[in-house]
This record gives sequence, C-alpha cells and structure tokens, in this order.
Amino acid sequence: MMLQADICYCFTFILIILECTSYVLTTKGTTFFPDRNNRIDQEFCSANMLSSKGGKVLSSTAMRAVVVSKFGDESVLEVQRNVPIPTVESGEVMVKVAAIGVNPVETYIRSGNYKMLPKLPYVPGNDISGTIVAIGANVTMFKEGDRVASFMRVKSGAYAEYCAVHSDWLMPLPNDFDFRKGAAIGTPYFTAYKALFLKANAKANDVLLVHGASGGVGMAACQLAVSHGMKVFGTAGSKEGMDVVLQQGAERAFNHKEKGYTDKILEATNGHGPDIIIEMLSNVNLNRDLEIVAPKGRIVIVGCRGTIEMNPRLIMGKESRVEGVALAVTTKEEFSEMNRAISARVKTGSINPCIGKEFSLNDVQRAHREIISNSGSKGKMVLIV
Ligand SMILES: NC(=O)c1ccc[n+]([C@@H]2O[C@H](COP(=O)([O-])OP(=O)(O)OC[C@H]3O[C@@H](n4cnc5c(N)ncnc54)[C@H](OP(=O)(O)O)[C@@H]3O)[C@@H](O)[C@H]2O)c1
Repeated sequence: MMLQADICYCFTFILIILECTSYVLTTKGTTFFPDRNNRIDQEFCSANMLSSKGGKVLSSTAMRAVVVSKFGDESVLEVQRNVPIPTVESGEVMVKVAAIGVNPVETYIRSGNYKMLPKLPYVPGNDISGTIVAIGANVTMFKEGDRVASFMRVKSGAYAEYCAVHSDWLMPLPNDFDFRKGAAIGTPYFTAYKALFLKANAKANDVLLVHGASGGVGMAACQLAVSHGMKVFGTAGSKEGMDVVLQQGAERAFNHKEKGYTDKILEATNGHGPDIIIEMLSNVNLNRDLEIVAPKGRIVIVGCRGTIEMNPRLIMGKESRVEGVALAVTTKEEFSEMNRAISARVKTGSINPCIGKEFSLNDVQRAHREIISNSGSKGKMVLIV
C-alpha cells in the first residue's frame, strides 16, 4: 500500500521567481534616480552636480539616457537627451559609460510583468563598463581615469551616458580590456559564479550540463567551469550557437531544439548523468533535468519564464537537490568574494566574454525585441554608447 502511495505521482505547479531586482525611481522635478533599495534618497537628489574630490564639475549637466515612463512593449523605451546627470555622493564614483550589457530581466521589468517594479519614470539596466570621470569623498580604491565595470548599485540606471556607482561595487578592468567585454561581465559572470560555486559547490572533475549555454550566463558558466577543471556539456538552439559553446571550452554541445537530445547527453555521461545542471529555462526543462541528473546531483535554476508540472519523486529517488539563484539578493560579502575571483580571472585572461549582438543606445528598442524573441544566441548582447 505504501508503495502504491509512493508511486502516486505528486504533480505540483511551481512558480519560481528567482530574479528579483528592485528598481525604484525617485523623481524630483525632472530628475531620474533609480534606487535599488526601494528608498527615496533625498540626500542624493539634493546633492551638487558631479562634485569630484577636486571640486571638478563636468561641462554638461544633461545626458542622453533611455527613459521608461510607462510599462509596456519595447516602444516605451524612449531615448531622451536632457536627462540630468546624476550626482556622486560619498563613496561613489561617476562613470562615463562606454558599453551596457542587456539582460532579459530588463524586458520583464519594462513590460510591467515582474514581481518588483520601479516607480515610473526610470532608467533601465544594471551592467556597465566605462571610465571614472569623477569621484566622491571617501573613495580610496579608485581614481579618475580608471577603467571599470559594474552591475550592482548602479543607482542611476545603466542605459545612460553617465552612471553613479558606489565604489564598493566596482570591478577594475585591465587597460587593454575591451569595454564591450567589460559590460558583459557583470550579471552573466556573477550569476554563473554564484550558481556554480556558492550554490552547486562545483568541484574539479564534476560533469556539468549548462542547459542554455549560448547566451550571456551560459557562456560565462562554461568558461568558469572549464577553468575550474570541470567537464562541461552545453546546449544551444542553433548550429552557430553550438559552435560558440564549443569555443568556450565545452567538451560537447547539444541542440536543445532537437528531439531526444537529452538522451544523447545521458549517453555522453555513460548513463550516469551530469553531476550539476545550470538551468536557463526551468519552466521547460526542470522535469527532464531531474530525470537525467546524476544521483545526488544538483540542479541550479537560473532562468524561469513560467510554471511547470513536475514530479517531486524524482528528487527523492536520487537524493538530488534543486536550488535557485537570485543575483539580486547577493550580499556585499558574497559580492566581494565573487569580485575577487572574477577580477583575478579577468586579469589572467581565463575569462573572455563572447560578444553577440551589438546595438547603439539609440537602437535600444530593437535590442529589447531581439533579446526576448530571438533564438540562436551567440554570446552577450551589448549596447554601445
Ligand atoms: N536568477 C538570476 O539571478 C538570473 C540572472 C541572470 C539571468 N537570469 C535569467 O537566466 C536566463 C538566461 O539569461 P541570459 O542572460 O543568458 O539570456 P540570453 O543571453 O538571452 O540567453 C538565453 C539562453 O537560453 C537558451 N535557451 C533557449 N531555449 C532553451 C531551452 N529550451 N532550453 C535551454 N536553454 C534554452 C538560449 O539558447 P538559444 O538562443 O541558442 O536557443 C540562450 O543560450 C534568462 O531567463 C534570464 O532572465 C537569471
């Protein structure tokens, strides 16, 4: 009887909301100041424009930025030329932005279909690279002229010519490091690192499946895992995408559009299954992941765009583990650990972001349309300022 009861499949609908980024826009007159901690930063709003340590003031007080004044499709992304340049406070720097990483989450937020939404109007985006042009008081680790990247605490929104960023959340970029690649590090590499090392406890010689390896996070996961001595398999939805996955050091690439491709993955592991699966589309793949993961394997959910019917028994039988990763809830300590590890790899060249489509800031609507509706990823999408 027990067995019968056990055999009864428990179907459950799960909605996994993992990507929670808080964007809040504080408006005072016509200024646009998104604040990640959901608070209105009055001090920030009233500070002097761009006072740097030496009291230098930028020649302009207005910049070009993308402003969203209502939620909707990509047509709500409006390029404006008179957006006030944000001010730098104590501990912060002003970055003249060279390139911006475009992430799928920015389309979810823009559409209004997201758990945490900013106050309107707001400037979207997280990931930037560029040059420091002004520094606030109490900044000791960086100076004007430094090349940097950032993806968290870009309090004034990334889709802009200038961004104010807290210096604790900056990553230095080597002099010869391409700004496009700098903008591709933030969200993808920190998410991939967190998934692999802070969640899945990845070890050298583990067999890893990156389920969705041709985009920003997937390629980052491949590179980090290969440099850690893991055996990596990746999937993509096109021949070109599979080629790019192999270029990241994956041992085998599979096409997630091909019928029966997961059987081939199982075969490639001699029936054992991957020890770790980093999952980019869990609402489609989670049940099958549970079937193919190795005994005591770990599945880390990075991407989720809906619900899935799945069988919890599959987790029980293998004593496997399903975990979620949410970059937005990264602590400062976690960030510091990841920043050290990723910066070191940037220096040694073991991290080399692969750039996919490039658009100008003015072409932001097309970028949003393509990142969400196009398949056949071949690297990280960036906006050039
Ligand atoms: N949890 C977090 O903190 C966090 C952080 C960053 C990103 N994310 C989420 O993670 C996902 C990936 O982000 P990204 O920046 O890498 O996006 P991206 O650059 O747009 O790449 C999307 C990836 O998903 C792949 N894919 C498409 N259909 C798939 C399928 N049926 N099975 C497996 N993979 C499939 C794509 O492959 P093809 O294009 O080759 O078909 C591509 O490799 C997004 O949903 C994003 O919102 C979450």
